[in-house]
Amino acid sequence: MGGSFVPCEVPVNLGDRSYKIHIQWGSLSEAPTLLGRHASAEPSHSGLGKHLFLVTHPGVQSLYGEGLQKVLSREGYAVDTSTVPEGESSKCLEVASRLYDRMVEAGVKRDSVVVALGGGVVGDLAGFVAATYMRGIRFVQIPTTLLSQVDASVGGKVALNHPSAKNLIGAFHQPSFVLIDPETLTTLPDREIRAGMAEVVKYGMIHDESFLAYIEDNLDDLLALSPDPIETILRRSCEIKAWVVERDERESDLRALLNFGHTIGHAVEAVMGYGEMLHGECVAVGMLAATHMATECGLCPPEVGDRLRRLLIRIGLPVTVPSQHTDGILAAMKLDKKGRAGKMRFVLPEGIGSVNLVEVTEEALVAHALDSIMNEASGNG
Ligand code: GLY
Repeated sequence: MGGSFVPCEVPVNLGDRSYKIHIQWGSLSEAPTLLGRHASAEPSHSGLGKHLFLVTHPGVQSLYGEGLQKVLSREGYAVDTSTVPEGESSKCLEVASRLYDRMVEAGVKRDSVVVALGGGVVGDLAGFVAATYMRGIRFVQIPTTLLSQVDASVGGKVALNHPSAKNLIGAFHQPSFVLIDPETLTTLPDREIRAGMAEVVKYGMIHDESFLAYIEDNLDDLLALSPDPIETILRRSCEIKAWVVERDERESDLRALLNFGHTIGHAVEAVMGYGEMLHGECVAVGMLAATHMATECGLCPPEVGDRLRRLLIRIGLPVTVPSQHTDGILAAMKLDKKGRAGKMRFVLPEGIGSVNLVEVTEEALVAHALDSIMNEASGNG
């Protein structure tokens, strides 16, 4: 697999916080050149040191971190590596605090660069630490999961969890560079590839019908991780995310559309317990429920939900959750921080490729939407 892969660069244009997303099969081995070009080339940082503080998980460290460290050291980079335990529980102040200690010990300075190598947890945690250490130093995202390659690594949202809510403690801190090597997906469990595909489908649903059709037409090759179609979906997903973030970096409006499927999805995730269902799986059922709600409101024809549902089933994503969780999910949604002044806001489709942010005051609509993902458990769950 791979070999003739053509590099592609997606720009994220944010004035003096602009950066590039470099997508190329096998590009981890070119990290020294790419980091030199992108992470060290800011004119405001003349005399830049070559000190990197790499944050990763033990598993990713043995798969990719050690090799990365070797090629970087060979090219004159000084690399200090810190590993954090796998899983959502690492996104907390205690783990962040240990990282600050390690950074002080390692002599991390203003011109050092934090490198996040791993999935969304590592990216959010390392990004948060970079955003706060010495009031903010530069960081580079090297995402190794599909979910983080198409979403979390782009856009500068970095955060830790609080016991009361996910991502409650956070900042906007744009990376200086995002390096995506799709070859890292080959060591990802199949279930995580399918879960990541939910976020890819989301981009088609919110912004681009032809992209959704591309996913439908190339699904077998995508799930087999063929380099060309994988490059295409990574590039298009990143382009759409960049387009949104460029217009609404701090989520005053447009960026909230990226939360399609997430209001219900986050509630499902919280109620089922992090780990039982993966984030992307929760987003899949959340997108279906939101689409059902849109149809009930007369905003979109039922064919939209039917098409989405068929695609999610083909991907192997869940389309239902056990019905005993209905009340818990409803309660969790009311607590969600995106709700404003007691009202719940949902991203609802008008058709494939077009969504709107809608305030829903009628609780019955929400309950019906939840029913739509509960009742058919025997059919396709
Ligand atoms: N994951 C949604 C966003 O970055 O805004």
